[in-house]
Order: sequence, then structure tokens, then C-alpha cells
Amino acid sequence: MVETQAMVPSTHTIRIAQLSDTHFIESGEPSEGGFSYDTDAAFEAVRDHLEQFYGDEPADLVVVTGDIADHGRPAQYQKAAAAFASFRSPINVCPGNHDQDVAFAAGMGRPTIGTSRAVELGSWCFLFVDSNAGSMIADADGRLVDPERYDDRLEANGSLGAREASWVKDMCATTTAEHVFIWLHHPPAPPAPLSFDNAYLAEWAALLADLPKVRGLGGGHTHVPDEYVFQGRPVFVCPSLKNNFDMTANTMLPPGARTYEFRPDGTIASETQLVEDARWPRHPLGRAVMSLLNGELSWEQFDAIVARKRA
Ligand SMILES: [Fe+2]
Repeated sequence: MVETQAMVPSTHTIRIAQLSDTHFIESGEPSEGGFSYDTDAAFEAVRDHLEQFYGDEPADLVVVTGDIADHGRPAQYQKAAAAFASFRSPINVCPGNHDQDVAFAAGMGRPTIGTSRAVELGSWCFLFVDSNAGSMIADADGRLVDPERYDDRLEANGSLGAREASWVKDMCATTTAEHVFIWLHHPPAPPAPLSFDNAYLAEWAALLADLPKVRGLGGGHTHVPDEYVFQGRPVFVCPSLKNNFDMTANTMLPPGARTYEFRPDGTIASETQLVEDARWPRHPLGRAVMSLLNGELSWEQFDAIVARKRA
């Protein structure tokens, strides 16, 4: 699938589009959490925006950093696969906390969709890290599987675990590419209190200290599009298709994606691409939602407030 990319010279700038948190769902089904844009419509709008952005020169690669299916169900991956096939560029995907390990592997396992853990392009090696790996458990045969309860994966924060961290180290040591960039679902230490996890931060801080080739990380998960610095590296957070939040203006944001240029000198330029449209107005956020996003309310407390309001 990436035959043409195999020949990309190391002097080229690599152009990549990132989608994240596409949260595909069966038509007519309620979304997890009960509050979502029409993700089919959002996908079409974002894809059209990106294809127009790239014009006659399609991106070298489209990456999707997890939460591909809203409930990790097979029919949702079928929908995602059909949608992803409509890009002109090759696609590579990794899982999020809404994805279910086996359903993800089966649903994304198609000749037109890559689930590669590493993609080398020009002077760059892109690693697709599973930021759910540390929440997986060994079954009776020693195989790592999702926790038995669906919610235990869904509600987990990022967790690398020793095996995934050691894999990242090995890959950085082995690739002949000059620069490494990490794609993953959970960005470490995001300025979004709801998604901040100290243990996960510590895993990445320890790992990155030994990996000077890593030039940056690109994730999703928070639904708060952002760009910040962690351990001297830029971290880019992609908008979702499900719902997005502006934590400064306290409003909703339209669905979107990110575009990137990976330059041969190891620098990265990235832009958030939001699709402004009357379907996705920048509504002010209610006080309960703001408190939830700011980490002042737990999900249980938030759900109780919503239930009281509905009653
Ligand atoms: Fe997520």
C-alpha cells in the first residue's frame, strides 16, 4: 500500500493529515455519553475540507489516532472502513479507549487500511503507540486482552505499561530514520484536567528522557484541540468528530482535524483545521460541563446533575 512512499527521499517534507476520535456509530443508535454531533456528517465535512486543503497533491499519509468506533462494535468499524476508503491518501490507524482490541483488529484489518506500528517516510519514522497497552490483562494463556468489563477500558486513562515502553525504545534504537514522531491516542499531560493522569505522565517523562530522536507526539482523546510542550517536545492534540471544547472561550467547537509538515531538519509545523458550519455553532458551555472539563466534578457527579435536570 505504501510502495510509492517507500521511495520518498530523505530531503522531502512529509505532509500528513490527522483525524482522531471519529466515534463512528450505527445509524440511529445513541452515542456513548448521549451527546454527540452526527459523526457521519462531521466525517464527510472534515474529509472534504482536507481533500480541498491538499488540492492536487494528496497528503503522504492520513493517520487516525483512536476512538474510531464509539462503542468498539464491529458494525461501527465497517462504517469507519468505508469512510476511510474515501481518502485519496494511504491511511494508518491506532486504537483508543473506546476501541475494543479484537473488534478493532478485525474491523480495521483491510488491504486499504494500515494498522502498522511503524511507518518510515523520508527522514522520519512514525511510531503508532498503543496508549491502552498498560490497561490490558493477561488471559489464562498469557495473551494480553481487554479487561472483561467494557467500561474498564472505556474509562481508563492512558497507560503504556512496561512492554509498550520497551517496544518504543527498541524501535527508536532500530530505525535508521533520523527523526521519530509518536502517534497515540492519549497525549501525556494535556492541559485538560479531565484527561490528566500523573502515572501516565511519569511513564512518558521517564521514556522520553532516553529518546533524543523523538521530535514530538500527536494524539487526540481530550476533544480539546491544543498544542503544548512536554519534556521539550511539541505535543499536538487533534479535534474530534464527536464534540469539541474550547477551554478558554468556554464554548463548543466544530469538528476538525490537524495537518502537519514534517521537515527534513526534524522540525514540525502543524495546524488545527476546524470546519466552520451552521451545523456546529460555537454554543457556550454550561457550568456543569465546564466543571467536568476542569476536573472539579467527577463523571458520577456530572451524570447525577444531568439526570436531575432531565427529571
Ligand atoms: Fe478517548
